[in-house]
Amino acid sequence: MTVRSSFVVVANRLPVDEVTTDEGRQWRRSPGGLVTALHPVLAEHKGTWVGWAGGTSEEAPEPFDLEGIHIHPVPLTSLDLERYYEGMSNATIWPLYHDAVETPVFKRRWRESYRQVNARFAEAAAEVAAEGATVWIQDYQLQLVPAMLRERRPDLKIGFFLHIPFPPIELFMQMPFRAEILRGLLGADLIGFQQRLAAQNFVRLARHLLGLRYEGQVIDVDGRPVKAGAFPISIDVAEMERMAADPAVQARAKQIRAELGDPKTVILGVDRLDYTKGIELRLKAFRELLSDGKLTVPEAVMIQVATPSRERVEHYQTLRVKVEREVGRINGEFGRVGVPAVHYLHQSYSRTELAALYCAADVMMVTPLRDGMNLVAKEYVAARADTGGALVLSEFAGAATELRQAFLCNPHDPEGVKEALLRAVHIEHPEARRRIRIMQRYLRTHDVGHWARTFLRELGVPDVEAA
Ligand code: ADP
Ligand code: G6P
Repeated sequence: MTVRSSFVVVANRLPVDEVTTDEGRQWRRSPGGLVTALHPVLAEHKGTWVGWAGGTSEEAPEPFDLEGIHIHPVPLTSLDLERYYEGMSNATIWPLYHDAVETPVFKRRWRESYRQVNARFAEAAAEVAAEGATVWIQDYQLQLVPAMLRERRPDLKIGFFLHIPFPPIELFMQMPFRAEILRGLLGADLIGFQQRLAAQNFVRLARHLLGLRYEGQVIDVDGRPVKAGAFPISIDVAEMERMAADPAVQARAKQIRAELGDPKTVILGVDRLDYTKGIELRLKAFRELLSDGKLTVPEAVMIQVATPSRERVEHYQTLRVKVEREVGRINGEFGRVGVPAVHYLHQSYSRTELAALYCAADVMMVTPLRDGMNLVAKEYVAARADTGGALVLSEFAGAATELRQAFLCNPHDPEGVKEALLRAVHIEHPEARRRIRIMQRYLRTHDVGHWARTFLRELGVPDVEAA
């Protein structure tokens, strides 16, 4: 029997992926900031999460409960995976919305698949939502779902949140089925963005493309008000603080430093292996500083965690080759037997191992060319219970509008990145503590619970449990 919920989240990914190992079928936490942010929200307010379970099949796995969340899987076939997920979502929309830092690929056959899969998600959401429920749709993979769901279930309150940037009008206009995407989004009552500028881009686009009138951030869609607004996403700060303060995590952080040969400076990068993250330019900055003699190995070493991501998409394959070539070059020039300059890890880690890495790092480098938010930057700040550590942060990460005490840099300017990195490496402890403390204070009052509450209140759901 289908469980009907008064609070439903719809996202392409479930918080867990189904993986088949020698021991049979297992569930493993899935990657990315969306899952990191939404998991605690849904765990707190018992609700249903509609999403893809990671594998390919005609039939979805049966719904099940996980840590207080009702999980409702939606199936994707291998053709959906190729056309809707790898194609339309991650080779067209992802690069286009990230300032076209890689050239978006447009293919007509991907479009129909995107429609079909969006309809499947809308159908599943319509099935699990109770009368008058709140349904919160997430991210760029599901932009047609708000309108499709409204058509099926006009009784619902529908919210939409975009986790990635929303492009300026001139860029969005490249999208072949742009009006359909825009109408899809406008099916929601409230559309949330990471940044104020993105919300402004959106309301202007509605006028430009569909001739809709707006006042402030409220668009008139055939007499129905649709609000757009900025809701910067965050992390479960208390959980990260707890993890980082755990003696086992602290011991592991010490062990990591010892295994690295107790260097004076540990520089860390943690990202999905994605071309928006600026991994190459960060490695290049490190190499040039070694080459200039401003940093030396083994006094300074770098750890780069590059989580495998979207591995069949060509842009990602090219990036992997480039990053691994650069790592090889740096280690070839500056490493010694048993002492590499860059420790490159193309793997997934547990949350506690990541917390230990954050605690072990003197400098965290977060240098995306473009990023909706970047939760890794917030995780690092929250993890520094010892109030040490310094953050180098790209001005093009959403987090830069909030974490003003980071060493901000323009990732397109190599000299600027090098300068920010050196300043972070040489920061005096009291100054590092002052900066981290200010950012921590900010994050405690702007955690993921605050994000969800603010959005849902604006949607007219003051308390999820009462919904
Ligand atoms: P994105 O959503 O684009 O991946 P974010 O920085 O916003 O970028 O979020 C990434 C999330 O994925 C963070 O919560 C981070 O801790 C997690 N993560 C990144 N790399 C790994 C890894 N190797 N193992 C486990 N979790 C990871
Ligand atoms: C970003 C996107 C999410 C996505 C995540 C991981 O955070 O905003 O929607 O889930 O990356 O990417 P993946 O393609 O593996 O789901």
